[in-house]
Amino acid sequence: MLKENGLPRTVTLDTAAAELVIIDQTLLPAKLKLLRLSQIEDMCEAIKKLRVRGAPAIGVAAAAGLYCLAARYVTENEEEFFSKLKSDADTLNATRPTARNLSWALEEMLGCAESRKGQGVSTIKNALKVKAKDMEEQDVAVCKAIGEYGAALLKDGDTVMTVCNAGALAAVEYGTALAPVYVAAEKGKTVSVYSLETRPLLQGARLTSYELTENGINTTLICDNMASSVLAQGNISAIFTGCDRVAANGDAANKIGTYMLAILARHFGIPFYICAPYSTVDFSTKTGKDIIIEQRSPEEIRSLWYRESMVTEKANIYNPAFDVTPAELITAFITEKGIKKPDEL
Ligand code: MRU
Repeated sequence: MLKENGLPRTVTLDTAAAELVIIDQTLLPAKLKLLRLSQIEDMCEAIKKLRVRGAPAIGVAAAAGLYCLAARYVTENEEEFFSKLKSDADTLNATRPTARNLSWALEEMLGCAESRKGQGVSTIKNALKVKAKDMEEQDVAVCKAIGEYGAALLKDGDTVMTVCNAGALAAVEYGTALAPVYVAAEKGKTVSVYSLETRPLLQGARLTSYELTENGINTTLICDNMASSVLAQGNISAIFTGCDRVAANGDAANKIGTYMLAILARHFGIPFYICAPYSTVDFSTKTGKDIIIEQRSPEEIRSLWYRESMVTEKANIYNPAFDVTPAELITAFITEKGIKKPDEL
């Protein structure tokens, strides 16, 4: 829907220029600016600083980015080519630890290159270009499918709650948690959204409120600590969130604050859905305890959005970017293959 409104894709590969093009999300909602990246330092900086963020978007960006880097290798020697490719993939993969889509996308790209081994560097480069573009298009199709399954759960007039940004800005288009809202709207249903602002980086305030209202969706922003008070009023029909990594037992890591919402949903008897593509599911990670949770800078809490520090220097600051919701609190996962209970993935 964002695209129909004339806004660009969150992340796209410009195949002609061999450049990764992203919306710089650190500037939203004040400014819509595109960045063109072709150097690994800039790509890593963009992922670490959350210029591009959200699990599917990071995955697609890494795939496109790896192709852009490979396109610039000057060697015709395959051994040298593969050594550079693996090293760059490792560097990109090290930018953020929690989102499974990042390592998944890089593994897909390396697998594509490996399958062309012996066919020459230019054939491999071309295969990587096709693969990266295909992953970008697949992301749109997968998110749309999640939207279709999720929209079937929504009635005209429903209001849902969400945290962080798992919308179009977290994928190529549509997103995951907001895809059901967009698809429901496309089908003529009116669905409203309560968005948690999502301290400390304010993805809910800056990004979710922006993209939903740009698309004509009635949106109400609340501070994170207002969630229980709003849920107690009885007007929220479901909670929809995205996800960064699902463990084999169905425990799911997502933006810090998601676990809190899952507990509240259970308390108030509201369904709690996690919307995620299968590329987010990590069957090699047994339970949520094995998921690495990214720890971010104290400055994001202390001073990032303020003119001066809001915290005495003497206070310790703890800033985990994600939490893990246990499988037993998740009503179901909405995936591109349908709606699955945690033990049906
Ligand atoms: O730190 P972020 O902004 O990358 O965190 C994003 C989230 O937690 C999203 O909910 C998740 O990546 C799913 S996006 C479709």
